[in-house]
Amino acid sequence: MDREKVDTFKYVREMNELLKDGGLFLVAEGRDKKPNAMTIGWGFLGTMWAKPVFVTAVRHSRHTYRLMEEAKSWTICVPSKGMAAALEFCGTKSGRDFDKFREMKLTAKKGVGVDAPYIEECPVHIECTTVFKTDMKPGQLEAGIEGEMYKTRDFHMLYFGEVKGVYAAKDAEKLV
Ligand SMILES: Cc1cc2nc3c(=O)[nH]c(=O)nc-3n(C[C@H](O)[C@H](O)[C@H](O)COP(=O)(O)O)c2cc1C
Repeated sequence: MDREKVDTFKYVREMNELLKDGGLFLVAEGRDKKPNAMTIGWGFLGTMWAKPVFVTAVRHSRHTYRLMEEAKSWTICVPSKGMAAALEFCGTKSGRDFDKFREMKLTAKKGVGVDAPYIEECPVHIECTTVFKTDMKPGQLEAGIEGEMYKTRDFHMLYFGEVKGVYAAKDAEKLV
Protein backbone atom coordinates (compact mmCIF):
# COMPACT_ATOMS: atom_id res chain seq x y z
CA MET A 1 0.00 0.00 0.00
CA ASP A 2 1.53 3.29 -1.08
CA ARG A 3 1.50 6.16 1.40
CA GLU A 4 1.76 9.89 0.91
CA LYS A 5 3.12 12.39 3.39
CA VAL A 6 0.32 14.60 4.67
CA ASP A 7 0.05 17.68 6.87
CA THR A 8 1.10 16.82 10.44
CA PHE A 9 -2.23 17.87 11.95
CA LYS A 10 -4.53 16.61 9.19
CA TYR A 11 -5.96 13.76 11.29
CA VAL A 12 -5.67 15.33 14.76
CA ARG A 13 -9.44 15.53 15.25
CA GLU A 14 -9.92 11.84 14.42
CA MET A 15 -6.97 10.93 16.64
CA ASN A 16 -8.41 12.85 19.58
CA GLU A 17 -11.73 11.06 19.18
CA LEU A 18 -9.95 7.69 19.14
CA LEU A 19 -7.85 8.58 22.18
CA LYS A 20 -11.10 9.23 24.06
CA ASP A 21 -12.81 6.09 22.79
CA GLY A 22 -11.10 3.09 21.20
CA GLY A 23 -7.43 3.97 21.18
CA LEU A 24 -4.46 4.28 18.86
CA PHE A 25 -1.54 1.89 18.48
CA LEU A 26 1.95 2.66 19.72
CA VAL A 27 4.40 0.48 17.78
CA ALA A 28 8.01 -0.04 18.81
CA GLU A 29 10.69 -2.65 18.50
CA GLY A 30 13.67 -3.17 20.73
CA ARG A 31 17.17 -4.45 20.06
CA ASP A 32 15.75 -7.88 19.20
CA LYS A 33 13.88 -6.24 16.26
CA LYS A 34 10.57 -7.87 17.16
CA PRO A 35 7.80 -5.32 16.52
CA ASN A 36 5.14 -4.91 19.19
CA ALA A 37 1.92 -2.90 19.23
CA MET A 38 0.29 -1.50 22.37
CA THR A 39 -3.05 0.28 22.52
CA ILE A 40 -2.86 3.79 23.98
CA GLY A 41 -5.58 6.09 25.25
CA TRP A 42 -3.45 8.83 26.71
CA GLY A 43 -1.38 11.08 24.51
CA PHE A 44 -1.52 14.11 22.29
CA LEU A 45 -0.14 15.72 19.18
CA GLY A 46 1.00 19.31 19.63
CA THR A 47 3.87 21.74 19.43
CA MET A 48 6.96 21.91 21.65
CA TRP A 49 10.35 23.48 21.02
CA ALA A 50 8.95 24.87 17.75
CA LYS A 51 8.49 21.29 16.51
CA PRO A 52 5.52 18.99 16.03
CA VAL A 53 5.60 16.54 18.92
CA PHE A 54 3.54 13.52 19.98
CA VAL A 55 3.54 12.77 23.72
CA THR A 56 2.81 9.21 24.82
CA ALA A 57 2.61 7.83 28.36
CA VAL A 58 3.89 4.29 28.97
CA ARG A 59 3.66 2.58 32.34
CA HIS A 60 6.84 0.93 33.58
CA SER A 61 5.13 -2.46 33.72
CA ARG A 62 4.53 -2.59 29.95
CA HIS A 63 6.66 -4.65 27.60
CA THR A 64 6.53 -1.54 25.42
CA TYR A 65 8.41 0.37 28.12
CA ARG A 66 11.51 -1.75 27.57
CA LEU A 67 11.18 -1.38 23.81
CA MET A 68 10.82 2.41 24.09
CA GLU A 69 13.94 2.52 26.25
CA GLU A 70 15.86 0.62 23.58
CA ALA A 71 14.49 2.26 20.44
CA LYS A 72 15.21 5.72 19.09
CA SER A 73 12.07 5.79 16.96
CA TRP A 74 8.48 4.55 17.20
CA THR A 75 5.19 5.06 15.41
CA ILE A 76 1.65 5.97 16.31
CA CYS A 77 -0.77 4.09 14.07
CA VAL A 78 -4.35 5.24 13.56
CA PRO A 79 -6.70 2.26 13.23
CA SER A 80 -9.43 1.93 10.66
CA LYS A 81 -13.00 1.39 11.77
CA GLY A 82 -12.76 -2.41 11.56
CA MET A 83 -9.81 -2.82 13.91
CA ALA A 84 -11.60 -2.96 17.27
CA ALA A 85 -10.51 -6.56 17.93
CA ALA A 86 -6.85 -5.69 17.39
CA LEU A 87 -7.15 -2.64 19.69
CA GLU A 88 -8.68 -4.87 22.34
CA PHE A 89 -5.99 -7.56 21.98
CA CYS A 90 -3.09 -5.10 21.90
CA GLY A 91 -4.57 -3.29 24.91
CA THR A 92 -4.97 -6.37 27.09
CA LYS A 93 -2.20 -8.80 26.05
CA SER A 94 1.51 -8.27 26.46
CA GLY A 95 4.19 -8.64 23.83
CA ARG A 96 6.06 -10.66 26.47
CA ASP A 97 3.51 -13.44 26.01
CA PHE A 98 2.25 -13.01 22.44
CA ASP A 99 3.47 -12.02 19.02
CA LYS A 100 0.61 -9.56 18.60
CA PHE A 101 1.33 -8.96 14.92
CA ARG A 102 1.00 -12.65 14.19
CA GLU A 103 -2.02 -13.23 16.43
CA MET A 104 -3.94 -10.29 14.93
CA LYS A 105 -2.67 -10.83 11.38
CA LEU A 106 -1.09 -7.38 11.28
CA THR A 107 1.71 -6.50 8.89
CA ALA A 108 4.79 -4.67 10.17
CA LYS A 109 6.36 -2.38 7.59
CA LYS A 110 9.52 -0.38 8.12
CA GLY A 111 8.86 3.35 8.52
CA VAL A 112 9.38 5.69 5.58
CA GLY A 113 11.89 7.90 7.38
CA VAL A 114 12.61 6.03 10.63
CA ASP A 115 13.69 2.51 11.58
CA ALA A 116 10.56 1.81 13.62
CA PRO A 117 7.84 -0.23 11.93
CA TYR A 118 4.22 0.75 11.44
CA ILE A 119 1.06 -1.33 10.97
CA GLU A 120 0.25 -1.50 7.29
CA GLU A 121 -3.44 -2.13 7.99
CA CYS A 122 -3.67 1.29 9.72
CA PRO A 123 -4.58 3.97 7.17
CA VAL A 124 -2.54 6.71 8.87
CA HIS A 125 0.70 6.52 10.82
CA ILE A 126 2.98 9.03 12.53
CA GLU A 127 6.73 8.53 12.68
CA CYS A 128 8.49 9.86 15.78
CA THR A 129 11.93 9.96 17.32
CA THR A 130 12.28 10.45 21.06
CA VAL A 131 13.68 13.90 21.82
CA PHE A 132 12.80 14.02 25.52
CA LYS A 133 11.47 11.71 28.20
CA THR A 134 10.51 12.33 31.77
CA ASP A 135 9.62 9.87 34.47
CA MET A 136 6.63 10.66 36.65
CA LYS A 137 7.70 10.89 40.26
CA PRO A 138 5.49 10.36 43.32
CA GLY A 139 4.33 13.60 44.95
CA GLN A 140 4.38 15.79 41.86
CA LEU A 141 0.92 15.05 40.51
CA GLU A 142 -2.24 16.48 42.03
CA ALA A 143 -2.92 14.14 44.98
CA GLY A 144 -6.41 13.07 43.90
CA ILE A 145 -5.25 11.97 40.44
CA GLU A 146 -2.17 10.26 41.85
CA GLY A 147 -4.26 8.36 44.39
CA GLU A 148 -6.73 7.23 41.77
CA MET A 149 -4.43 6.44 38.85
CA TYR A 150 -1.33 5.09 40.58
CA LYS A 151 -2.60 2.87 43.39
CA THR A 152 0.05 0.26 42.53
CA ARG A 153 2.78 2.90 41.98
CA ASP A 154 3.07 1.81 38.35
CA PHE A 155 4.01 5.24 37.05
CA HIS A 156 4.22 6.41 33.47
CA MET A 157 7.27 7.42 31.54
CA LEU A 158 6.31 10.31 29.27
CA TYR A 159 7.99 10.16 25.87
CA PHE A 160 8.08 13.24 23.67
CA GLY A 161 8.55 12.21 20.06
CA GLU A 162 9.47 14.71 17.37
CA VAL A 163 7.13 14.02 14.47
CA LYS A 164 9.25 13.27 11.43
CA GLY A 165 6.29 12.64 9.18
CA VAL A 166 2.61 11.71 9.03
CA TYR A 167 1.73 9.28 6.25
CA ALA A 168 -1.65 8.29 4.87
CA ALA A 169 -2.68 5.41 2.65
CA LYS A 170 -4.94 5.85 -0.34
CA ASP A 171 -8.52 6.51 0.79
CA ALA A 172 -7.38 7.09 4.40
CA GLU A 173 -10.03 9.78 4.85
CA LYS A 174 -12.77 7.19 4.35
CA LEU A 175 -11.12 4.52 6.50
CA VAL A 176 -10.18 6.34 9.73
C1 LIG B 1 -8.17 1.66 25.33
C2 LIG B 1 -6.85 1.39 26.04
C3 LIG B 1 -5.96 2.43 26.26
C4 LIG B 1 -4.73 2.21 26.90
N1 LIG B 1 -3.85 3.25 27.09
C5 LIG B 1 -2.64 3.03 27.65
C6 LIG B 1 -1.69 4.11 27.74
O1 LIG B 1 -1.90 5.24 27.28
N2 LIG B 1 -0.50 3.84 28.38
C7 LIG B 1 -0.21 2.59 28.88
O2 LIG B 1 0.89 2.41 29.44
N3 LIG B 1 -1.08 1.56 28.76
C8 LIG B 1 -2.28 1.75 28.14
N4 LIG B 1 -3.18 0.71 28.00
C9 LIG B 1 -2.81 -0.63 28.49
C10 LIG B 1 -1.87 -1.37 27.55
O3 LIG B 1 -2.29 -1.26 26.19
C11 LIG B 1 -1.85 -2.88 27.94
O4 LIG B 1 -1.38 -3.01 29.26
C12 LIG B 1 -1.01 -3.73 26.99
O5 LIG B 1 -1.36 -5.09 27.20
C13 LIG B 1 0.48 -3.52 27.15
O6 LIG B 1 1.13 -4.25 26.13
P1 LIG B 1 2.70 -4.57 26.16
O7 LIG B 1 2.98 -5.29 27.47
O8 LIG B 1 2.92 -5.45 24.96
O9 LIG B 1 3.42 -3.28 26.08
C14 LIG B 1 -4.40 0.91 27.35
C15 LIG B 1 -5.30 -0.15 27.14
C16 LIG B 1 -6.51 0.08 26.48
C17 LIG B 1 -7.46 -1.07 26.24
